[in-house]
Amino acid sequence: MFLVTGATGSLGRRIVKQLRAENQPVRAMVRLSSQYQELETLGAEICLGNLKENRDIVRACQGVEYIISAHGSGGDTEAIEYRANIELIDQAKEKGIKHFVYTSVIGADRGYQDSPVFKAKREVEKYLVSSGVRYTILRPSGFASSLIPLAQRFKETGIYLVIGDTQNRSSIISTDDLAKIAIASVTKEGAFNQIIPVGGPEILKREDIAQIFAKLYKKDPIILNPPLFLLDGARNFLGLVNPDLARGLGTLRTLLANEFFCPPEEVARVEQIYDFKLETLENFLKRYVPAV
Ligand SMILES: NC(=O)c1ccc[n+]([C@@H]2O[C@H](COP(=O)([O-])OP(=O)(O)OC[C@H]3O[C@@H](n4cnc5c(N)ncnc54)[C@H](OP(=O)(O)O)[C@@H]3O)[C@@H](O)[C@H]2O)c1
Repeated sequence: MFLVTGATGSLGRRIVKQLRAENQPVRAMVRLSSQYQELETLGAEICLGNLKENRDIVRACQGVEYIISAHGSGGDTEAIEYRANIELIDQAKEKGIKHFVYTSVIGADRGYQDSPVFKAKREVEKYLVSSGVRYTILRPSGFASSLIPLAQRFKETGIYLVIGDTQNRSSIISTDDLAKIAIASVTKEGAFNQIIPVGGPEILKREDIAQIFAKLYKKDPIILNPPLFLLDGARNFLGLVNPDLARGLGTLRTLLANEFFCPPEEVARVEQIYDFKLETLENFLKRYVPAV
């Protein structure tokens, strides 16, 4: 039995679907307020609970063999990104769980002090590595699924918004590929006790993404490109009225101001461990936002 946290999120939902397609037993931890009917229909066991509550985590971990932590911070980094993962790891240790897959982020080890999420992920990584539980830490770059709404808007309007440097590079990972990798991590020996950066097969500048949209949807792109200092200004102002929200925006700023890509040797390592070819952004988008 797999436990998947964040089972209604863009990654978690795909993990649950793929597990059920393989007829694997899976427990999906979801909140009562989440949209989880689809997962239930697929045959996932629904475990209602909030990651802020330790007793819900303890209940969710009963009788599972594998844990895939795929939840997001939900606006409360300390409670959800940090403490909930620490509790999940403690439960994994106490209950002798066979393998723990943790979804971190590319660059978690770069010491971005402005981002609570990057800091929390690095601390969770360290805790997991020293826990004695068999693990795989995945450090994905940006998810292709995050671009679906942008592609949809582009298809309708031709508009593409880039905040900050249009030359910044990323290697967008197909969220479907990442789900497959997360699941395979519990059986592929090459993934045992490894930290694995996971990026797609192409290194793309942000302006290249507009060109991929243009090619797919046959529209000349109108690129809107506000400078990063506008975000800084808004953040400084917010800091006066809502310091917590201003701090939270540090993660967004970190993502916008830096590059997050995997060099070819890291892509080759992933393809070798998991034994399949990673798909391009264009391929992924054709499935989710078809041209016609
Ligand atoms: N998106 C990216 O580009 C990207 C890139 C690198 C790494 N990552 C990491 O990958 C992971 C998955 O990202 P994602 O984009 O798939 O996340 P997402 O779509 O934002 O989903 C977040 C999930 O966490 C759940 N959640 C939040 N607070 C919760 C709580 N208190 N109790 C129970 N569940 C809670 C949400 O449930 P509800 O449905 O109830 O809200 C949802 O299922 C995250 O750790 C993220 O940091 C993401």
